[in-house]
Amino acid sequence: MIKIAPSILSADFGILGEEVKRLELAGADWVHVDVMDGNFVPNITIGPGVIKHIRPYTKLPFDVHLMITLPEKYIDTFAASGADLITIHLEATKDVEGTIKHIHSLGKKAGLSINPETPFHRVVPYMGQIELLLIMTVNPGFGGQTFMRECLPKIREARRYVDNQGLDVEIEVDGGINAQTGKEAVEAGATVLAAGNALFGCTDMRREIEDWKRFRRQ
Ligand code: DX5
Ligand code: ZN
Repeated sequence: MIKIAPSILSADFGILGEEVKRLELAGADWVHVDVMDGNFVPNITIGPGVIKHIRPYTKLPFDVHLMITLPEKYIDTFAASGADLITIHLEATKDVEGTIKHIHSLGKKAGLSINPETPFHRVVPYMGQIELLLIMTVNPGFGGQTFMRECLPKIREARRYVDNQGLDVEIEVDGGINAQTGKEAVEAGATVLAAGNALFGCTDMRREIEDWKRFRRQ
């Protein structure tokens, strides 16, 4: 079953608690939280203080995507704020393995993310250690960008690897996901769709999510 993770980057920040509550009613599976530091990416969004305040508004798992340099410095803080899955970028730290272990030691699930230009083979050494691989399908930093179709072969490669090795790793895609590109990503092997603009911008999020959950791998 495909999981849908709306990105609250496209929500109304003035009523973020209510927006998060709305996701559960719309049938979302996870709440995707984009944390940006103005260093790893050229934008600044929200931090652990905000996550802590919106956490009580839903029981859905918080899928926290850290687009920050040296994520190892902030794992304790984000775990304490209420994150369930903590995803770091391969490009953001020299200590990927240690950071994954740190996330696990706090009882949280660990994700590893790669930018569009980073090849799949660079995450292979960590594939047996993570619960989630997050494949960026735009250059991270802003919502509302166009899905990069050149990332589709990487999704297929990751899918083949996970299946061949018999791993229990979700493959999430993030960036420019809509009804069309989400379908293509799932057909290529993605199991989780993170999407901001397409979900927060549609007229009936519940119906949209219902439709997306029907996508199947080819
Ligand atoms: C991009 C973020 C994404 C983004 C997705 O840097 O990681 O989660 O918010 O937004 P859309 O779906 O609008 O591309
Ligand atoms: Zn994201």
